[in-house]
Amino acid sequence: MNELRFPENFRWGAATAAYQIEGAARDDGRGPSIWDTFSRTPGKVHQGHTGDVACDHYHRYADDVALMAELGLHTYRFSIAWPRIQPDGTGPVNPRGLDFYDRLVDTLLARGIDPIVTLYHWDLPQALEDRGGWTARETAEHFATYATAVYARLGDRVGTWTTLNEPWCSAYLGYGNGVHAPGERNAGAAFTAVHHLLLGHGLAARALRAAGAETVGITLNPADVRAADPDSAADAAAVRLVDGLQNRIFLDPLLRAAYPEDMLEHVARIVEPTFVRDGDEKLIAAPIDLLGVNFYQPTYVAGRPDGAGGGGAYPGTDGAVEFLPPTGPLTDMGWMIEPAGLTRLLERIATDYPGVPLLVTENGAAFPDKAGSDPAGEVQDTDRIAYLDGHLRAAHEAIARGVDLRGYLVWSLLDNFEWAEGYRKRFGIVHVDYLTQRRTLKSSARWYQEVISRNGL
Ligand code: FCB
Repeated sequence: MNELRFPENFRWGAATAAYQIEGAARDDGRGPSIWDTFSRTPGKVHQGHTGDVACDHYHRYADDVALMAELGLHTYRFSIAWPRIQPDGTGPVNPRGLDFYDRLVDTLLARGIDPIVTLYHWDLPQALEDRGGWTARETAEHFATYATAVYARLGDRVGTWTTLNEPWCSAYLGYGNGVHAPGERNAGAAFTAVHHLLLGHGLAARALRAAGAETVGITLNPADVRAADPDSAADAAAVRLVDGLQNRIFLDPLLRAAYPEDMLEHVARIVEPTFVRDGDEKLIAAPIDLLGVNFYQPTYVAGRPDGAGGGGAYPGTDGAVEFLPPTGPLTDMGWMIEPAGLTRLLERIATDYPGVPLLVTENGAAFPDKAGSDPAGEVQDTDRIAYLDGHLRAAHEAIARGVDLRGYLVWSLLDNFEWAEGYRKRFGIVHVDYLTQRRTLKSSARWYQEVISRNGL
């Protein structure tokens, strides 16, 4: 294949999230989060796995940063655990919680690695959930207060701030189909949560900006939604609905200061949208400097006018939409591998929502890796290399077509706690032996190191 070079200043990195790697669930005054509660609820997480220990990154962060430096990462995206900063979600700040991130940031900077902070990657303080969680408007306000407290401590050294990670998952999986914490199953609650998450983003973005933050953004998981049959009108209608629920319901208020009309109608069929108050859309549309895009696989849908569609995780699509089973070679998550979907998605965002620089904040794949599967004792994960190579070519193609893509972060640096799947799905380019906490570079890590050093493929 042709050699590809990425633009100068293209940023290469890796991403993780607090609950998935830190462990130390009770250290230094951390309060319980909804994931502590959910993972202890029988039947919710594979084999009752929890994030109590995870990769023990809380104690091993210096070694993990050394690994990042060895790989040559320019940047590292991690999330802050709100319950470490405010154990009850509101009230006094716990300085010991901030101390950890302080040390982490200093260690990164000492190695020349630029930190990207995610303020919320799903670990809501349980005390706030007890008051309604994201279905309560006050949570949005508390989120902005928390963001301000974190900025006050780290803002002198962290340039890039993102508010939420994938509010789609927090709302639809957390409150809609119950697959994620807090495990509620209520379509109306899911839409209420969408709005309060977006409001929380807007309030936090403004607060960060006012405090002096350089670069402020949000990470979404927008999807490339495709029709099963490109000639079918029913399928086109299904695409429009799912695109609305996955993409436009987030992107339009964020970047056009208004919810799409068809989504307002869809939501109103399920719940009276009294939670949207005058002026909210303007607050949500606080200017951003960066849009994070997480991409794993495309979504294929068919319209089912006969009412026999499965609906899936999208509130209000039961019966009307069928989500096609993924085809071709799949990842260990059962996810489809179609890199062209990333090119299409990036181009579509750049066309429909111009003017915001994009960053791939997550892309990667789970495969059933075996430690010691190559002669050097490393993990031979050629399937992961092929996945990453394909998606980097797709990202490069988007750049060639004019998309302002600033960088790429692989998910994930380490094997980690994959939410409802527990530890059985391995996304890392670094293998973690959970019994010994030994880290072993997979061949994909060596490959990525080479990609970074050549700035290309
Ligand atoms: C994304 C999440 C991330 C990880 C990957 C596989 O939806 O943001 O934490 O679980 O999926």
